[in-house]
Amino acid sequence: MTEAYPIEHHSFDVVVVGAGGAGLRATLGMAEQGLKTACISKVFPTRSHTVAAQGGIAASLSNMGPDHWQWHMYDTVKGSDWLGDTDAMEYLAREAPKAVYELEHYGVPFSRTEEGKIYQRPFGGHTTEFGEGPPVQRTCAAADRTGHAILHTLYGQSVKQKAEFYIEYFAIDLIMGEDGVCQGVLCWKLDDGSLHLFAAKMTVLATGGYGRAYFSATSAHTCTGDGGGMVARQGLPLQDMEFVQFHPTGIYGAGCLITEGARGEGGYLTNSEGERFMERYAPTYKDLASRDVVSRCMTMEIREGRGVGKDGDHIHLHLNHLPPATLAERLPGISESARIFAGVDVTKEPIPVLPTVHYNMGGIPTNYWGEVLNPTDKDPDAIAPGLMAVGEAGCASVHGANRLGSNSLIDLVVFGRAAAIRAREVVDPDSAVPTPNQASVDKALARFDALRHADGATPTAELRLEMQKTMQQDAAVFRTDKTLAEGKEKMEAIAGKMADIKVTDRSLVWNTDLMETLELTNLMPNALATIVSAEARKESRGAHAHEDHADRDDKNWRKHSLAVVDDTKTTLTYRPVHLDPLTKTEEGGIDLKKIAPKARVY
Ligand code: FUM
Repeated sequence: MTEAYPIEHHSFDVVVVGAGGAGLRATLGMAEQGLKTACISKVFPTRSHTVAAQGGIAASLSNMGPDHWQWHMYDTVKGSDWLGDTDAMEYLAREAPKAVYELEHYGVPFSRTEEGKIYQRPFGGHTTEFGEGPPVQRTCAAADRTGHAILHTLYGQSVKQKAEFYIEYFAIDLIMGEDGVCQGVLCWKLDDGSLHLFAAKMTVLATGGYGRAYFSATSAHTCTGDGGGMVARQGLPLQDMEFVQFHPTGIYGAGCLITEGARGEGGYLTNSEGERFMERYAPTYKDLASRDVVSRCMTMEIREGRGVGKDGDHIHLHLNHLPPATLAERLPGISESARIFAGVDVTKEPIPVLPTVHYNMGGIPTNYWGEVLNPTDKDPDAIAPGLMAVGEAGCASVHGANRLGSNSLIDLVVFGRAAAIRAREVVDPDSAVPTPNQASVDKALARFDALRHADGATPTAELRLEMQKTMQQDAAVFRTDKTLAEGKEKMEAIAGKMADIKVTDRSLVWNTDLMETLELTNLMPNALATIVSAEARKESRGAHAHEDHADRDDKNWRKHSLAVVDDTKTTLTYRPVHLDPLTKTEEGGIDLKKIAPKARVY
């Protein structure tokens, strides 16, 4: 029997779950438009993982030389390895400059050029002339603390607009009406143990990625795929989960991020022979090739015995040839990280680095307005009413099989903003807030109570480690039929052990044991969807590098994977990629011939 928990009730037009860049941009936009908006976060907003974003935010401002939104769109299409949705990619590239200027006017302290314009640096995969010209300086930066600057500004602006913040509240489950409409979310207030039911006309999931399904990740420990977990428990699909990005330069051992901006400012990689090996693999863009490409090249160098260090298991990143003044001005944060986590003075020595899990291209499927999709055979773009997802939690799908560096921060603000624009169209501030379906509330409560009293034999930390090691080993930079089949089997067994979980602390106040268990119940469906979708995809595309199927196969596999996870069982279906842009060529849109699939070389 579920214990009787007193519940405090709240009613809003919109509830945003998550206070990173996407959650705050959505919150701000909703509140600015007069919607009564709550933002719920399990951490203090300015501690959300966006704070760790370093290198910058992509937008074709042309501050440092010629650029065009169509070149940005082309690079994004190519970066996605032709799996992104064309309408969403156009929306991103076209809206990016507007979204960045809005940030500037909200007060983001961008670095400046001599003329006082926003400073922009080169980043991997961003080019001119539809990939025919030199690298472009498109990534707008606030030194190497761009996410930090954006997050603090958006939080301040949201408070100014009187959005209501519920800080250190953990979202347990979505509340769904009998008609399948999302009606809000049940939450646990971590510092006093009380439960809170947020009823809303629109619920926006901005819960970030699930990097912590892996053993070594640049992601914060809070990146546990909570939105994906909640969605999976409602029988809704997760899309393109097999595409997991490894950032080329995580600090060896610690996993902390060294921004791609380091290579943008002139840094380069070497192997044990001191060779700048990227010149061999990517003769045109070298160290500024797309990050899936660079991660694979580094892994090949290590495999072929040219790794550095006593075990030959990592690579060197050199910044020591750059002027100390440039490092101090443009890369102060990573200079400090290298000193603390690698014991390296970047003005004198190279940084030991290794590809490290960094970003999830997959997530909750949405259209480019952020509305969650629940595809059917008849309508692959059918909407799950009352529910939106933005940021890394969502999959618009603008990054397809591989995201370009600095396209994440722009995704957060463009689609956070788009969700607010759409919400103003579909949410009637004068209508009544739905009365939450009691059966759905009871189900969420029963799950919470069962986990709180879980008395099995497997401690949460032990099972989490098993999952992380399996994902790290079997869903890695390079994959094979064998590793994926073994990984799938192992992950299904690991997910089955959730039934034997042991929670030691039964209290409700600051019970980190229970919180980490709830997080594990969210990580698990994300991990399962990842490995099952990867096992099924018999081609190589973007971040999915399959050694037994080395080529991209557009005929059979240019389609989005959809994974419905029910406990240990994952069912896969597919939906078509959107091939049509928003704007026809003759009306000023991109020439479709320019973005037709071709070999992806840098
Ligand atoms: O390298 C970086 O600064 C990371 C940027 C990104 O993932 O977009």
